[in-house]
Parts: sequence; C-alpha cells; structure tokens
Amino acid sequence: MALSKKDLLGLRGVPASEISEILNTAELMKVILASNNKKTPHLQGKTILTVFYENSTRTRLSFELASKYMGGVAANMSASGSSVAKGESLIDTARTLDRLASDVMILRHSMTGAPHLMAQHVKASVINAGDGTNEHPTQALLDMFTMKEKLGGISGLNVAIVGDVTHSRVARSNLWGLTTMGAKVTFAAPPTLLPPELAAAGCRVTEYVDDAVREADVVMGLRIQLERQQKGLFPTVREYHRYFGLTPERIALAKKGALVMHPGPMNRGVEISSLVADGEQSVIDEQVTNGVAVRMALLFLLTRRNVQ
Ligand code: CP
Repeated sequence: MALSKKDLLGLRGVPASEISEILNTAELMKVILASNNKKTPHLQGKTILTVFYENSTRTRLSFELASKYMGGVAANMSASGSSVAKGESLIDTARTLDRLASDVMILRHSMTGAPHLMAQHVKASVINAGDGTNEHPTQALLDMFTMKEKLGGISGLNVAIVGDVTHSRVARSNLWGLTTMGAKVTFAAPPTLLPPELAAAGCRVTEYVDDAVREADVVMGLRIQLERQQKGLFPTVREYHRYFGLTPERIALAKKGALVMHPGPMNRGVEISSLVADGEQSVIDEQVTNGVAVRMALLFLLTRRNVQ
C-alpha cells in the first residue's frame, strides 16, 4: 500500500489502481473520522506544511486537520505575511521550507505548473492543492470518493459538469480521474467558458445544460469565478443563472436520485440555486467531510512511501 511517485501533482496519467488505492484507504480513514477519538499515529514524527499563495477554506483546513488527527506536526505558510511579500522566489521559498524539515508540502498557487517546479527542488513530497487553471487533484479525489460512497462505484456513471470550465482546475482533475475510472463526463457552459480542446480529451461538450443534465447520475456545478469575469464572458449574472444555473427544474431532468455536487465556495443564485444547494439530492456538505478522509489517506500513502 503506497503510491508509485514522490508527489501528487495531478490526476492526468495516474493509473486506476492508484486512484482505487487512495479511495479505499480514505474509506478506512472515514471510519476513524466518524469515531469519538479521531487519533491515529500514522504521521508521528512527520511535518506537514501547507503553502498557500491563494485563499482557501476547505483545502487548507482539511489538510491541517488531517495532519493533526494522524499525529503529525502541521504548519501553514501564506504568501501574504511571509517573505514572499518581500520578493522571495518560489524556488528559494521551497528550498527554505525543505530545510525546515518538512516531509510533505501542500502548495496552492495561481501559476499553472508551480507545484511541478517546487517538486523538482525539494526532497519533501509535494501535493498540488490547485495550480492556476490546471489541476486540483485532491478535490477530484474527494468528489470521486463521494460518488463511490453514495452510488456504489464510478465506472459507467454519467457525470455532468456545468459552469466555468475554462477557469476550473476542478473540472480538469475530474475529467482525468473520472475517465480513468470509467465514467462518462459531459461539460456544459456558455461557449466563452468552454475550451474546445476538451472535446479531444474523451468527454462530451455542449452549450445546452439541459442536454448535459438529462439522464445524469451526478450533476456537478462549478463556481463562476467572478474575479476573472472582467472580459465580458457572459452578459449578466442574472442571465447566466437563467440559462446555465442549476435550478430544481434542471435537476429534475437528471436520473432519479442523481447527486448534486459543488466543490465550493458557491455563488448562490448564480451557478446554483439555494433550493438545489440545500435540497435532498445535494451532497455538498458531505464532500467537505470526505475531503478530510481523502487527505488523510493521501498523507498516509505518501509518507508511507518514504519509509519503504
Ligand atoms: N474546493 C476548494 O478548493 O475550496 P477552498 O478554496 O475553500 O479550498
């Protein structure tokens, strides 16, 4: 039980056997999380650093909690308030953190490829917690864990992913992970938010949300990244909701019992209505809890690799 590589930089190219290993280990971790004594010794003597150049609530805190539940030493570095604000480069920062005896570094950065660069310069294992518009592999792993837990498996599922695909690293990691695990992925978005090259990656793309959602087993909304919408990629937020938002009427087109997912944070009333976000089919809160279990599993498997 270990991963073949030092780092987890993305899900593209990760074999199904390794994804299954992570998901199966997360099942065991979830049992520990549900108990009254959330303590394991698996990370005793290990130091885990979260290194965040962008904001985060779920990812950063769930890695920190996962490290602490497993007996590790957890510390956080944010770009603001650190020597990054004085101009220290990513590579110099990475080397400094490596010398502070970290075993795992978890990096979120606005630049695509930043975790790959860091991984080349440190002995520690590097986990990508979101790089630019490239990948967010631990989010896709927790999404797949939730699908498997709720629907019994991933192979053969129809997964509709709706929203700002162009700017979404969650969309890309889910594409690579889900297709490797045998699911069918359909992306739906306005043409300005739907990169055409994705059609060559083994998924379906459409401008019609109703077509994507019809007969889906899972409907995943993506956050409209309002901070990146200065270019007029859609007319108004109200029109976006009308034509592309996840509403009860649209969710009714999906299979009976289909799951509604969203990585968070949500723009309620934009990409998803509150009736859907808080509705019976929503597993959005469970995704958050499952994120801790999946990150516990990853930390266990990556640090175990170091001792074998
Ligand atoms: N889904 C996700 O990455 O959330 P945070 O930005 O809060 O970490």
